[in-house]
Amino acid sequence: MRPLTFSTNKHFIPIAGKPLIFYPIETIADAGIKEIGITYNPSYLEEVKNTLGNGDRWGLKFTYVLQEEPKGLANIFQVAEEFINGDSFVMHLGDNIFVDGIKELVDHFEKEKPDGLVAMVHHQENTRLGVPYFDDRGRLVEYVEKPENPPHDFAIPGIYFFSNGVFECFKGEGAIKPSARGEYEISAPYQWLINKGRRVDVLEYKGKWLDPGKFDDWLDANQYLLEHMERGENDKSAQFKGSQIHQPVVIGENVKIENSQIGPNVSIGDECEIINSKISDCVLMNGVKVKGVKDNPLEHSLIGTDTEIISEGGGGKKGSSVKLFVGEKCKIQI
Ligand code: G1P
Repeated sequence: MRPLTFSTNKHFIPIAGKPLIFYPIETIADAGIKEIGITYNPSYLEEVKNTLGNGDRWGLKFTYVLQEEPKGLANIFQVAEEFINGDSFVMHLGDNIFVDGIKELVDHFEKEKPDGLVAMVHHQENTRLGVPYFDDRGRLVEYVEKPENPPHDFAIPGIYFFSNGVFECFKGEGAIKPSARGEYEISAPYQWLINKGRRVDVLEYKGKWLDPGKFDDWLDANQYLLEHMERGENDKSAQFKGSQIHQPVVIGENVKIENSQIGPNVSIGDECEIINSKISDCVLMNGVKVKGVKDNPLEHSLIGTDTEIISEGGGGKKGSSVKLFVGEKCKIQI
């Protein structure tokens, strides 16, 4: 997500009107879980705390847990052992969105009490994800990270359930080891459980799963969430006289829109100004100004906080559009 991540953490970039990290938090809250440990890396504690607070606004209790070095997903719960304090737990990656909730997975885990549980989803590009391998009786025998030739199109998304016994995998002689890239991969503790003959269940997630890790996936996720969002209170379209708003669009606070066409699939942050412009399929972070970008409209773009895009019109090929991926505080004259 560079260049945006030069100046902010990916989890705070908005999708469909709110920071990415809000989605996992809401999913966890909806599943009835009350205590959340949020791991952070040393440079981001202030930003994380300022944005998320202590969890009150979601009726949750947050504990911030430092992961000193980026040593892999399994290391994330390893550093949270004290916080987890003997309980079973679920780890939800901060950049995955389970649009239809995780209640079914939580219920299965609580009822069946396996040592581990993963979800699986159909995914065309599972060579860039974790993949479950099964024996001919349908039992999970191997959990492979990013295989070259997966035997099917199933992938394991970023939600992981464990009983507290998993912490043994970090201890003693048979302890799991970092992979070739120096990380404790999430596959390793599951493989450790499987090899020890412990029970690891796999449940298909039939809801919508979004994995907005890259520019195009981000805009796809923005579109999907806007299309499926409940409208109502958030609908400010009527305020912008002289402009046309083509839903779905989400508009932040103190936004000025004049003589423009907005939408579909546009997410506009707070304090933005859009004058004499045409915008579709975009995410504009807070304080973005777009002026005169009409003859060659702004499409399929992600614009960082306080960036200005100004066009004096003309010049561009008729009918072509402007597509940008720019960071914070840039000034672009077209
Ligand atoms: C991680 C996991 C992978 C999982 C994916 C889901 O990969 O290692 O098993 O399928 O998250 O988002 P990463 O996105 O860190 O490459």
